[in-house]
Amino acid sequence: MCGIVAYIGREEAFPKLLSGLKRLEYRGYDSSGVALMNGDLQVVKRKGKVSELEQAVSGMNLTARMGIGHTRWATHGAPNDVNAHPHLSDGGRLALVHNGIIENYDILKKALTKEGYTFQSETDTEVLVNLIDAIQREENLPLEEAVRLALTRVVGAYAIVVMDRDDPQKVVAARKASPLVVGLGNDAFFIASDATPIVEHTNKVVYLKDEEIATISLGKGLDIKTIENEQQRPYVQELDLKIEQLEKGGYDHFMLKEIFEQPQTVQDAVRGRMHPIEGWIKLSGIEEYANRIIHAKRIIIVACGTSWHAGLIGEYLIEDLARINVEVEYASEFRYRNPILTEDDVVIAISQSGETADTLAALEIAKQRGALIYGLVNVIGSSIARLTDAGSYIHAGPEIGVASTKAFTGQVTLLTLIAINLAHKRGNISEQRYHQLITELSQIPQKIERVLESNKKVEYIAAEIKDRPNALYLGRGYNFPVALEGALKLKEISYIHAEGYPAAEMKHGPIALIDEEMPVIVIANNPSAYEKIVSNIQEVKARKGYVIAVVPEGDEVISQLADQTIEIPATDEPFSPLLSVIPLQLLSYHIALMRGCNVDQPRNLAKSVTVE
Ligand code: M6R
Repeated sequence: MCGIVAYIGREEAFPKLLSGLKRLEYRGYDSSGVALMNGDLQVVKRKGKVSELEQAVSGMNLTARMGIGHTRWATHGAPNDVNAHPHLSDGGRLALVHNGIIENYDILKKALTKEGYTFQSETDTEVLVNLIDAIQREENLPLEEAVRLALTRVVGAYAIVVMDRDDPQKVVAARKASPLVVGLGNDAFFIASDATPIVEHTNKVVYLKDEEIATISLGKGLDIKTIENEQQRPYVQELDLKIEQLEKGGYDHFMLKEIFEQPQTVQDAVRGRMHPIEGWIKLSGIEEYANRIIHAKRIIIVACGTSWHAGLIGEYLIEDLARINVEVEYASEFRYRNPILTEDDVVIAISQSGETADTLAALEIAKQRGALIYGLVNVIGSSIARLTDAGSYIHAGPEIGVASTKAFTGQVTLLTLIAINLAHKRGNISEQRYHQLITELSQIPQKIERVLESNKKVEYIAAEIKDRPNALYLGRGYNFPVALEGALKLKEISYIHAEGYPAAEMKHGPIALIDEEMPVIVIANNPSAYEKIVSNIQEVKARKGYVIAVVPEGDEVISQLADQTIEIPATDEPFSPLLSVIPLQLLSYHIALMRGCNVDQPRNLAKSVTVE
């Protein structure tokens, strides 16, 4: 959602805050701002990207050794200068940045208004900073104690950092359901929503836990207490993150870089977990709970967005290979519909960020009801990773482009590995089939390399359809979720309306949409349904639709029918999504670029959705 960064040390704070905000911009980019402890609290904030803030401060004297910064994804109040963070308390004593939502802000605001507080913005954040101010004044408390008491009255999610003009050597940070990391430098401390602004300064970090409050002052260091006022010992960890992973590395956009990283993503997802020659798969999370997982009555997958599409592929994989009943749920629906769960169920949460509020809430319900909860998460140490009983990290490295690409491939790779592993452990597949599957999985990275060679062709096709207002994506079986994912990618970065559909469902409605204006992208690399897909293409062509087909290399039938084809290497059907999604990612990338859209930071979106 929003990005938070703070610095306290002996060097100039502003350059560190600015570079930190640029790193965090993927989390939200409708406005940004900083507050600097400069004798008084100096606040500068602007609507728009961090570059607007950078322009706004040119020529200003920003000398300070301590400051807080924020890049926003609006929840309460329109994106404008006034609603941008940091927010000052009435009177200007405190400055605060916030990621999350204060659900009871309205009641708190009314009470504060009665006490005489006035508000400049429409945000819940300004209510929180005034609440802290009111408690601090009433009881003459140190900042950290006022923050603690204020948070006991707050309902909702927060990661906050606060500074007090009257106590200028200290920052206080706290979190609940929104992440916050403290970096321990040389006579300097950093606080951020994730480690990306910290890694260039230090690799020693402390991940704050829910309802912990960190007080940092130079000389005294880091002190952590819980909201219940219990002292905590900071657990210092070393970051496993390299700066190169956060840069574009010669690519024009993070999204393109991440698409091209996917051969490596697949390799990293299986590294140390599978040996095609020795013929083993070892997933420590599965080993640890082998009995419960192998004998699970049901596997329920909960996720959102692209991760939900990966979950649908997981359903095909696990049911097909391991013969366990799988249900795939939107986390946002699951959490509110009183689901039936027992101790015989395994709930798998899939999430790139590991912070998606709905997925986290769905898991909490599953945990309360006794199901085993398993995480497939990319971000190490994230909230979902910490909540689960067991899990497997995707190891895709930082994904900065808001449109998820390599995380999806990593998720599907792991689901494939889990399905093969369970199928083998449950005796559902022969030894020969088992070896065949893991051998083919080990060849997927090279096959993705070959798919990526079609980039120029995909760019040419993109130019053909970039001005069409709609697009239809069709797939069958394993490739139906890929059709959904292709449509989502196009929608979110090019703002073209797109629908994903099971190819055979087309004739039950969407066929009415087809005319010469409608590009229809057909994923046609399922060997088991090839003839049926050919028939679906015939149906589209009979209505003059413009067909772009993803076909197996050397295909001769569909290439006669379709307007354009993109060839991808043949593979065993369970692996086909790992190849067929690549040209769809490239297609949406090129179309968005040609339409002048911001590929890495599409409008209205944010990388991780930490609010409902
Ligand atoms: O971090 P998560 O995987 O939990 O995020 C889920 C969705 O918000 C995410 O996949 C979203 O749909 C992406 N923008 C898709 O590209």
